[in-house]
Amino acid sequence: LINVCILGNGTVGSGVVELLNKNRENIRKRTGEDVRIAKILVRDINKHFREKYFHLITNDISEIWNMDVDIVVEAMGGLYPAYDYIKGFLQKSKHVITANKDVIAKYGDELSKVADRHGVCLKYDASVAGGIPILKPLQDCLAGNEIKCFYAILNGTTNFILSKMYNEDMKYEKALEIAQEIGFAEANPDSDVLGYDSARKLAILSSISYDSRVFWDKLYTEGITEIDEIDIAFAKKIGCNIKLLALSAKEEEGIYGAVRPAFVPFKGKLGMVSDEFNGILLEGDAVGQVFFYGKGAGKLPTASAVIGDIFDVIENKKMRSVSRAENEAQIITKWQKNSDWFIRVECDEVERVIDFIKAKFGNITAIYPDKAIGGIVAFILEVENEIILDIILENLQGISGVKKIKKTIIIDL
Ligand code: NAP
Ligand code: HSE
Repeated sequence: LINVCILGNGTVGSGVVELLNKNRENIRKRTGEDVRIAKILVRDINKHFREKYFHLITNDISEIWNMDVDIVVEAMGGLYPAYDYIKGFLQKSKHVITANKDVIAKYGDELSKVADRHGVCLKYDASVAGGIPILKPLQDCLAGNEIKCFYAILNGTTNFILSKMYNEDMKYEKALEIAQEIGFAEANPDSDVLGYDSARKLAILSSISYDSRVFWDKLYTEGITEIDEIDIAFAKKIGCNIKLLALSAKEEEGIYGAVRPAFVPFKGKLGMVSDEFNGILLEGDAVGQVFFYGKGAGKLPTASAVIGDIFDVIENKKMRSVSRAENEAQIITKWQKNSDWFIRVECDEVERVIDFIKAKFGNITAIYPDKAIGGIVAFILEVENEIILDIILENLQGISGVKKIKKTIIIDL
């Protein structure tokens, strides 16, 4: 008999209860083990009295602490006390499965070592891209590759918001409200909309892939809060969608890592990823491009990843830590590749701006918004790398009457 305790009965925790109950027979057939949910921890017990399994719910961690438990599923969220609970249970030689990227991005390496020392598993497949199996394929099936780069949509909430704004002209605030109601968003949705959640997931992917420690707060991180209807109109005009991309690439001088809004071709692989879906396009030196696609947030998709980890624990399949490497990666925050950039300029005198851009880039065509909005003009500029672009834009900013410049990378995939 395998006793499972679940910390949290929110979107993910309740999904794990539902899916575990549904899969009980399946688990028995495949592993020969009976799985029993022994206890479920919550913060406010009054919120849960309608649950059929209310008798299993407690708000007292010491009850679980002292139980005969085999697997602890952490689905509470946040850094603390989640980190202390995960560490404490590993030290008690309990297997731990978590969906918590905040904890894994910051402490995954340390916690994996604690798990190793105590001969148990720490598993976290649900922490990156929800229901998409990505960590296991990266570490197993793609192990023979040197991973060169990732182009990924890793946050369901922001992708949902951008899809609603793009496809239904929905206001940002309304779309965020719906994402929160459905349960895609983090308890503090700033994590989603400011890009931190994507950065944490990208750091986990990068640490695994490049065998050096990547810290999420060293990455360039820009969220979606500055995207407005004008950006969307421009994107449509040039056949693009707008996505919050998590980008990383192995360069000679280090690892490029950034989370930033990007224009992507409307009909490309990433442009077609809508709503709460995630997409991860990676490139390995042997396999070439591989694309992973599926639901990146939500109750059952995330629970699906947790149940997969439960199977693995029962079948005693270990997964290596976030990164065995002791060295910290050198992080580069400026895009190094030759690319097109979409540059939007708000200014008093459009002609002056056009003359400046033409002097630098030749006979380039200015793009205007569909609706006549005075003082806004845009260009697509091809530059060797982002450092060169920044120097040009600094000079442009110096022209009198230029109020605001926005640059958005165009990823042609
Ligand atoms: P949630 O809906 O807010 O649920 C959190 C649950 O944990 C609630 O039941 C809450 O209790 C309980 N909890 C929180 N702090 C606690 C504490 N200090 N002591 C005891 N119980 C506590 O969150 P969620 O969306 O399920 O997310 C959980 C984790 O999964 C997060 O790390 C999140 O990033 C990750 N994740 C979420 C998704 C998703 O789609 N939602 C997808 C992948 C990963 P009360 O109910 O009593 O407040
Ligand atoms: N808030 C996260 C998202 C949950 O929207 O992607 C899944 O990690």
